[in-house]
Amino acid sequence: MHYTRLQHEDITISKLILGTWAIGGANWGPYDESQAVRAIETAIDLGVTTIDTAPAYGGGHAEELIGRVIKGKRDRIVIATKCGIDMQNGFRYDLTPAFMEQELENSLRRLGTDYIDLYQPHWPDPDTPVEYTMEALERFQAQGKIRAVGVSNFSAGNLAEALAFGRIASLQPPYSLLDRDIEKEIQPLCVSAGIAMIPYGSLGAGMLTGKYTEPPKFKKDDARSFFYRFFNKRYWGGVSALVELLRSIAAAHNAKPGHVAIAWLLSRDAVAGTIVGARSADQVRENVRGLDLSLSPEEVGELDRISAAVYEG
Ligand SMILES: NC(=O)c1ccc[n+]([C@@H]2O[C@H](COP(=O)([O-])OP(=O)(O)OC[C@H]3O[C@@H](n4cnc5c(N)ncnc54)[C@H](OP(=O)(O)O)[C@@H]3O)[C@@H](O)[C@H]2O)c1
Repeated sequence: MHYTRLQHEDITISKLILGTWAIGGANWGPYDESQAVRAIETAIDLGVTTIDTAPAYGGGHAEELIGRVIKGKRDRIVIATKCGIDMQNGFRYDLTPAFMEQELENSLRRLGTDYIDLYQPHWPDPDTPVEYTMEALERFQAQGKIRAVGVSNFSAGNLAEALAFGRIASLQPPYSLLDRDIEKEIQPLCVSAGIAMIPYGSLGAGMLTGKYTEPPKFKKDDARSFFYRFFNKRYWGGVSALVELLRSIAAAHNAKPGHVAIAWLLSRDAVAGTIVGARSADQVRENVRGLDLSLSPEEVGELDRISAAVYEG
């Protein structure tokens, strides 16, 4: 495993971060809890110290499972969780201090810990002045309940505004060969402000592993049916061309297409580590191997070119 220290905080993360949306057990196809537990255990056994989660993943179930697995190992684990989605009220974004405080206490209880390493507003809340949100986060930090402040899904504008009121260690944006929108404004801002990017969707929710030979069809309540645009069958031509390239680069390295997707992300500016979701120990074992691959400048150039054209066709 490879590790890196966040620029503004005394926190060291593993370059592969385990994502636990699917592990939460809701909105992600069939679910087997014992497999989910083994996925977390296997990740830790393989040196993954950093786990990304959220109350929204299975309504707190992902946090509960993590809490169970990390008992007795808490000091070796870096927990990144989130706040600010009111699940009782139509998944409304709520970053008011009172709601965040309640959520923080709930996350601490479910995770069986008295501190969170990286606490991240999940989505910006347009109705709450960011100053109030940042003040609340700073208070949690002063109380020792969180070690550092990260944010998730913030635009460049949101980030710049928040930075005026406090320190931000990390940003969790959607970023992969299938989603490069953040390269225009957000990534340069992270580079100049020393904010560590920890992207999500690194494998294109499975698409970049090459597992699909035709556009997949998901049930309506499966998050993949609405959350990621590349699953829309009208983009299948561009996506297939990209996956073919991943296959050919992978073959030259005796690796898998997903490894190429992970290696590409880790080569990008400001990316400190990458969140890779998994639902089983086998997937974790395979994904960790992506850290051993390094790509040539020619391969990166070709990936840049083909990925930029995915949505053009
Ligand atoms: N901040 C946010 O708003 C936000 C949004 C989305 C995600 N996230 C975080 O980022 C994490 C990762 O994102 P993601 O889960 O959407 O996408 P991802 O990491 O690109 O894809 C993960 C999914 O791909 C499949 N997969 C993983 N390894 C595989 C392998 N070796 N072979 C074949 N299939 C494999 C699994 O689903 P199947 O087995 O079902 O195919 C897995 O759940 C989440 O778990 C969560 O922690 C955050």
